[in-house]
Amino acid sequence: MSTLLSSWYRSVETVPANYVFSEDKRPGGDIAAPVCKDIPVIDLSRVDGIDRHEIIQKIMVANQDSGMFQVINHGVSEELVDETMNLFEEFFNMPTEDKAIYYSEDGSNAFRLCTSSLNYRKDGINTWKDSVKHDCHPLEDNIQSWPERPARYREVVGAYSVEVRKLSLRILDLICEGLGIELGYFGDELSKLQDFVVHHYPPCPEPGLVLGVGSHTDASLLTLLQQNIYGLQIFKDGQWLGVEPIPYAFVINISDQLEVISNGKLKSARHRVVTNDSVSRISLVTFISPSLESIIEPEKALVSASELRLFKSFRYKEYRAIYMANLREGKGTPTLEAYKL
Ligand code: OGA
Ligand code: NI
Repeated sequence: MSTLLSSWYRSVETVPANYVFSEDKRPGGDIAAPVCKDIPVIDLSRVDGIDRHEIIQKIMVANQDSGMFQVINHGVSEELVDETMNLFEEFFNMPTEDKAIYYSEDGSNAFRLCTSSLNYRKDGINTWKDSVKHDCHPLEDNIQSWPERPARYREVVGAYSVEVRKLSLRILDLICEGLGIELGYFGDELSKLQDFVVHHYPPCPEPGLVLGVGSHTDASLLTLLQQNIYGLQIFKDGQWLGVEPIPYAFVINISDQLEVISNGKLKSARHRVVTNDSVSRISLVTFISPSLESIIEPEKALVSASELRLFKSFRYKEYRAIYMANLREGKGTPTLEAYKL
């Protein structure tokens, strides 16, 4: 339990050696990298009107270019986002003894509070965060494993999960339209899993030396993120750039499975998280993923006769296992590379 970052970060003035990234990986001066100008902010309240075609085109260009966009007026109320953020502030601010009962290094636990990445690394480099992890869908199969404190955890996170799921399916349908495949294509097996991960990044005395999350792409289909302050960066055109924190906007990123299914027409966004020396950051991350038994491969309708098929077929379960093993070994998860033809 002593490994939880929140229990000791206040007592150090320098970063312990096993949190210091090598010179080529640490952010250094890039913690203040300029904001990426190519991440469009899409107003979803306009999507059912005359601007629909233009909005979908904008999403498709962003998905090809950076793999990321933001959405506003998305239907998840500001009150619910505030309640969820506040709930996790309360959770992470609980005394260490109260959080200890939730701490687990066993990845098969339905609900877990963990530190660094999947687990604290005795040998190797750790990342500057603690996280809560659990599944959300279907709600009735999962909610019993969630904590009873803070008191409204199940109620608030339950409502948030349901609303974010609806949003994710709306966005996936816009992507279907952009790709020219039938609406609802992603609505069943391909979006069955919904993992919720809430990261807490405390202030760090030497933010140039550490990362909150190392450079990676997500293993899921689609990722939807709320952030309270700056910290997320995207790798684009050979450099790290900031993702602007817009109050209540969701950052949407294309993940590995969408890159495969679209045969590379959509790009899985490479991103990381930097820390700062003054304020805690919280991010609410929803990963929408295929069921474990799903077979993932480029959709045939998306590979034209003149085009090469770019990826092998695989079972999502196998992909996820390799991705997790790469993550445990701190390999920066180049998992998708192994499936390229
Ligand atoms: C992740 C991730 C970003 C963030 O959990 O995969 O990229 O801002 N998180 O916490
Ligand atoms: Ni990520």
